[in-house]
Amino acid sequence: MSVKHAQTKYPVADFIKHRWSARSFSNQPIDDETLRTLFEAAAWAPSAMNEQPWRFVYAHREQTEAFGQLWSCLLPGNQPWAKNAAVLVLVLAHKAFAQNGQLNRHYLHDTGMATTNLLLQAGELGIHGHPMGGFDVAKTRETYNLPDELEPVTVLALGYVGPAEQLEEPFRSRELAARSRKPLEEFVFENNLPKQ
Ligand SMILES: Cc1cc2nc3c(=O)[nH]c(=O)nc-3n(C[C@H](O)[C@H](O)[C@H](O)COP(=O)(O)O)c2cc1C
Repeated sequence: MSVKHAQTKYPVADFIKHRWSARSFSNQPIDDETLRTLFEAAAWAPSAMNEQPWRFVYAHREQTEAFGQLWSCLLPGNQPWAKNAAVLVLVLAHKAFAQNGQLNRHYLHDTGMATTNLLLQAGELGIHGHPMGGFDVAKTRETYNLPDELEPVTVLALGYVGPAEQLEEPFRSRELAARSRKPLEEFVFENNLPKQ
C-alpha cells in the first residue's frame, strides 16, 4: 500500500500529514455509520452566517446505477481509477443565503472548508478521499436536474487504499510519485505583500 505522508519542514499534526489524494482503492466498502461520521465532520465546519451552503449526494459502488450515474459525469482522466472508489460524493454549494436570497459570496469557500473537514475525518478512520474538479459540469447539471442556485463544486472518490500496482499507467506512476509543496516563502508574507 502506498503511504504518502507529508514531509514537512515544521511540525504539523499527523491528521494533516497523513491525508493524501489516493487513486488506488481496495474492495472494502465504507459502511453507512462511518459515512455518516464523515458528513457529520463536514457539518461542523465554520461558514459565513452559519449558512452551511454545502450539499452532498453520495452513492456506494454497490448501488451500481446511482454510482454509474455519478461516475459517468467524471472526465476521462478520472474515470479509469475512480470506478474503484467505495463511494463517490457529489459536492454542491448553495449560492444564496436562505434568509434573504442574497448572493453568499462565501459559498465556495465554506463548501471547501466542509470538504476539508470530511477528508481529514476520513483520514482519521483510515479512509482516503480524492477531490476531483475533473467532471462535466453541464452533464452533472442535467443528470441531477440542478437549479441555478446549486453549483456542483467537486466529486470526491472515497475508499480504503489498495496497492498502486493494480492501477494502469499513468495513474500508477502518479500514485507512487512524491508529494511536494511550495516553500512558505512563496506564499506567506509578514506585514504586506512584496512589491511587484
Ligand atoms: C478542487 C480540486 C480539484 C481537483 N481535481 C482533480 C482531478 O480532477 N483529478 C485528480 O486526479 N486530482 C484532482 N485533485 C487532486 C489534486 O491534484 C491534489 O489534491 C494535489 O495534487 C495535491 O495532492 P495531495 O492531495 O495528495 O496532497 C483536485 C483537488 C482539488 C482540491
